[in-house]
Amino acid sequence: MHFDYETLARQLVGFAETDSHYIPLLANASALLYHSMEDLNWAGFYLMRDGRLVLGPFQGQPACIHIPVGKGVCGTAALENKTICVDNVHSFEGHIACDSRSLSEIVIPLHDAEGKIRGVLDIDSPLEGRFSGADQAGLEQCARLLETVISWG
Ligand code: SME
Repeated sequence: MHFDYETLARQLVGFAETDSHYIPLLANASALLYHSMEDLNWAGFYLMRDGRLVLGPFQGQPACIHIPVGKGVCGTAALENKTICVDNVHSFEGHIACDSRSLSEIVIPLHDAEGKIRGVLDIDSPLEGRFSGADQAGLEQCARLLETVISWG
């Protein structure tokens, strides 16, 4: 499935030009991702606070509020400091099921200017294998771009 990540990236930069604070920027980023990508049931951010991930701006069903680093897909991506793309969450040991419809997901860490992890982008789909290598590359590019424009406050 082709998706226009360049347009998405331009829209993210446009939001940041108005206000780069992480709350409005990540709130609009989650809405943009959720409404422009097909076949998603959740798109949003978990932010690092006091050594664990805490629910941040998102679109979708209410979700678990705290995720320890190392737990679930989000916590594993934060611990290993790398993107994790899961084709079927039932085969990922320790997956945290916030919405039972989620079947595949991709989680990408976000860093500050010093390289410290400030949170993760988490996108979930009810379809198995929803996220291709091209999706991963496009979303990672958007995450890198967000890192350059965001103000962590
Ligand atoms: N799926 C995540 C938990 C967050 S919800 O999907 C929104 C995980 O296992 O990390």
